[in-house]
Amino acid sequence: MKYCIVTYGCQMNVHESEKIAGILENLGYTETDIRENADIIVFNTCAIREGAEDRVFGNVGNLKKMKKKNKNLIIAVCGCMTQKEQTAQKLMNTFPFVDIVLGTFNLSRLGYFIEAVKQGRKMEILQEGDVEENLPYKRTSGDNAWVNIMQGCNNFCTYCIVPYVRGREKSRKQENILNEIKNIVAEKKYKKITLLGQNVNSYGNDLSDGSTFAGLLKEICKIEGDFKVSFMTSHPKDLTDDVIDVIANEDKIEKYIHLPAQSGNNRVLKLMNRKYTREKYLSIIEKIREKIPNCRITSDFIVGFPTETEEEFEDTYSLVKQVRYDSIFAFMYSPREGTVASKMEGQIEDKVKHARVNKLLALEKKIQKEDNKR
Ligand code: SAH
Ligand code: SF4
Ligand code: F3S
Repeated sequence: MKYCIVTYGCQMNVHESEKIAGILENLGYTETDIRENADIIVFNTCAIREGAEDRVFGNVGNLKKMKKKNKNLIIAVCGCMTQKEQTAQKLMNTFPFVDIVLGTFNLSRLGYFIEAVKQGRKMEILQEGDVEENLPYKRTSGDNAWVNIMQGCNNFCTYCIVPYVRGREKSRKQENILNEIKNIVAEKKYKKITLLGQNVNSYGNDLSDGSTFAGLLKEICKIEGDFKVSFMTSHPKDLTDDVIDVIANEDKIEKYIHLPAQSGNNRVLKLMNRKYTREKYLSIIEKIREKIPNCRITSDFIVGFPTETEEEFEDTYSLVKQVRYDSIFAFMYSPREGTVASKMEGQIEDKVKHARVNKLLALEKKIQKEDNKR
């Protein structure tokens, strides 16, 4: 019996696909890259932008023929798209041949669902759950091991679907994280450990045991062994001095921070509910540069947020010019149903978004070229 997993979206999903692979291998399945050879195909989906969802709809639709040829083929869709009730419903209605729709909180039940489908039932579940511990993994990212430290997000940036599909912040217990890392290090197969969370700097806020992200980093660095630690993503409003100090002081921590700015304009930042100003953001960058010389810094930007004027976009442009990032991601704003920004007046035309994103990426390319030369 063979499985094939198709993954969309962020590192969180890449890592969750490793869990899905672990569960399937425990059930006796082996991996194949060729969809035609698979007995079960799992789509691990992303809902962050419309384009991501469109790709999933296209690719799941393409399986109809395969399902006709092989009646025993099991098709499962999980991940962030399935956490939106309307989208999950649309998936089920458009593609009646999908057997399993499984939310992100219930991966451990995949085996039970497969058994049910084999007995002729269709399965769907989307409810919230707790952070699931002790699932088997099949790590697939070379010498990098992903370690999830928390799930969900409390920030509700007005453009973003993540808090709706991943729920509120739930930190894993420090002890469980440390044990997982000790086991990874003991395997001696991994040189790098990347901690994952939508907003790693607020790690521990929901635990009542005093755990903090800086504290967690320090404990991880006490583990003996030859490995480096990095993490993503940091939110500028929560990147405190103690975290910057730990990065600066600990040899085991990679000198790298992904610090999404999203915009360089204060009015837009406020509309986005990012809770920092351009000036505050720049002061953090300055602190990083001062305390951690040669720290690589990268960022995400959204252009064409509702009502963003040309002048306001120029503020984003000038921020990129000023910070001289090692690299950036630039996205055209994509309205997500149910978010505050999707209902705002003043939505920007696609043509304008295209022009802005191209201009920003061209600037970044120029900066990288100059810096590489240097
Ligand atoms: N938790 C992380 C990132 C999550 S999503 C953080 O807060 O930085 C990754 C990136 O996708 C975001 O940084 C943002 O730039 C982009 N993004 C999120 N929602 C978007 C939307 N509706 N349209 C376009 N880009 C979006
Ligand atoms: Fe989305 Fe904002 Fe949370 Fe990041 S911090 S996941 S952009 S709501
Ligand atoms: Fe996408 Fe979900 Fe990640 S929406 S970006 S896969 S958290």
